[in-house]
Amino acid sequence: MSTLQSLLEELKKRDWLKIIDEPLDVFLEIPHVAYVEAKLASPKVLLFTHPIDQKNGKVYEMPVLMNMFANFEITEWIFGNHPDAIANEIRTLLHMKPPEGFMGKMSMLSQLFDLKNVPPKRSKKRGECQSIIYEGANASLERLPILTTWSEDGGPFITMGQVYTQSLDGKMQNLGMYRLQKYDEHHLGLHWQIHKDSSCFFDQYREAGKKMPVSIAIGGHPLYIWCGQAPMPYGMFELMLYGFVRKQNAKIVKSITNDIYIPHDVDIVIEGFVDPSNLRIEGPFGDHTGYYTPQELYPVLEISAITTGKSPIYQATVVGKPPLEDKYMGWATERIFLPLLQTTAPDLIDYHMPENGVFHNLILAKLKTRFKGHAQQIMHAFWGVGQMSFVKHALFVEEDAPALTDYWALTEHILNRLSTSSILITSGIIDALDHSSYETLVGGKLGVDATGEIKPKTCEVVSDEVLYERASALIPNIIALKQYMTHTANPITVIQYTKTTSARTLFDALSPLKNHLRVVVFVDEHNNDVENPYMLVWRTVNNIDAQRDIWLHPFIGIDATTKNTLDGYTREWPKDVDCDPKVIEDLRKRSIIDISDEEIEKYQLY
Ligand SMILES: Cc1cc2nc3c(=O)[nH]c(=O)nc-3n(C[C@H](O)[C@H](O)[C@H](O)COP(=O)(O)O)c2cc1C
Repeated sequence: MSTLQSLLEELKKRDWLKIIDEPLDVFLEIPHVAYVEAKLASPKVLLFTHPIDQKNGKVYEMPVLMNMFANFEITEWIFGNHPDAIANEIRTLLHMKPPEGFMGKMSMLSQLFDLKNVPPKRSKKRGECQSIIYEGANASLERLPILTTWSEDGGPFITMGQVYTQSLDGKMQNLGMYRLQKYDEHHLGLHWQIHKDSSCFFDQYREAGKKMPVSIAIGGHPLYIWCGQAPMPYGMFELMLYGFVRKQNAKIVKSITNDIYIPHDVDIVIEGFVDPSNLRIEGPFGDHTGYYTPQELYPVLEISAITTGKSPIYQATVVGKPPLEDKYMGWATERIFLPLLQTTAPDLIDYHMPENGVFHNLILAKLKTRFKGHAQQIMHAFWGVGQMSFVKHALFVEEDAPALTDYWALTEHILNRLSTSSILITSGIIDALDHSSYETLVGGKLGVDATGEIKPKTCEVVSDEVLYERASALIPNIIALKQYMTHTANPITVIQYTKTTSARTLFDALSPLKNHLRVVVFVDEHNNDVENPYMLVWRTVNNIDAQRDIWLHPFIGIDATTKNTLDGYTREWPKDVDCDPKVIEDLRKRSIIDISDEEIEKYQLY
């Protein structure tokens, strides 16, 4: 039995697996079921045993596995330990001092012994993943039930591919999780963004004018894919993290047609070479920001072989509006990487990336302030270190603040300490997926230092109705207005309006109401609901570039609207990633999904 099959057996025993035997289409249907499952109160892992491609009259032999990281409990089980316990092991190693006394020596020896499990072990034998070998014309992607997740995607995409590469001199190996677009039977688009390690290797091959070997694995132990998305420093092979977490070296074997090593027990391997002179348009793709990422040029893999285990399982994920499977993968990453962050910011007590901040858009951090400007110091450390530098908005609180996951209490705490002088606006590099800034890859950053004293409450609070009337008299086209946290020093007023003018002109127009306003957030008419704070936070942190969209006078203003030429924005603003309502309705009618109208609205499925 393969690694993945035995894990599925265990999932079945624990009643954590839903098996769906009904034939379902790889085009939208399967991904929509997984998307809905992730929004339910107790999501499970999904196994689709009969994937079909209705349009082309195809029936696949391979089952499709989705939502492997279905919830906190299953994620912890995959790791074999709570991520905080793994973080503690790392912390112990980082703080390892020369041992004192016999017992000290013994315990250190055992820790060092454990480290023997870290480096991947190369095997000369063929792997289980090479039980069946297809080469040349037989190495066809048509064998795989590759999903098209969203109706406006540029085609089918492999969404849980472990992409294995090596540097030109062969000294460094890398595992990255990047999506892969199926162009045809033998070609895949490789969406490694410019900041990522494989892109760095790719530059080496391009400069040398040499073809780059790449192997993509699917399946095997789910920790492989988690390691692929982990923000390991450049030059460190992610499979070392696998060995560390599992206390068992990753066993790797050489690909059949190139020199790349892959884990022996994965389900599927796609091997090939990239000609660095050949780039091709990739996308669009409904991404984990909840927006479509635009088309861009990326390298292409020409497939030389596909190998599989005896009964391979095709693993996939769905990304889009939160919450989804990446919430749980991100949770483990957040916990396990805390001790490493603490090496550059020792007074950082904890940090947290809420799921509706889609990781890099919002970070909450707790620190023990020891000197003036301490929070700013850590903000700059974040913005300067590895993938943390993608973070757009960082909010800092003191050690006595509520838990970072207690969102209402924490918001109250921050708003009671917020003032214009605690706000830092700067710029830096941003995630390649970000759409808010005027140009790609660089944009605004916001840091809020809420570690200070409580501020006096000076806001004259009136009801939503009264404020709505007064605001409507000053600015046109208001659709709705709602105030949040009116008991704090800085209530938040969300104003939805039909956008015929840039929001920046409206802040000044509202200045006669400045006694009633402390923080104003403008949203537009498209898909916003002022009663839905979860999605408002999601959209706001996605849509703002702090340098362009935040004002500090006459009150704090945030323009979270869709930008266009009224704002001097000339890029194409992406569409929301929406489910196809017909597919959802049909799946509901067939009782394959069970989601209420309220939940559809809450998570803005369409
Ligand atoms: C579900 C999911 C999909 C992802 N897709 C991509 C992608 O298409 N391109 C990319 O550059 N990063 C993507 N990432 C993020 C990378 O996996 C992550 O940045 C990783 O640390 C990159 O590894 P590297 O630094 O070794 O390149 C994705 C992450 C997740 C969780």
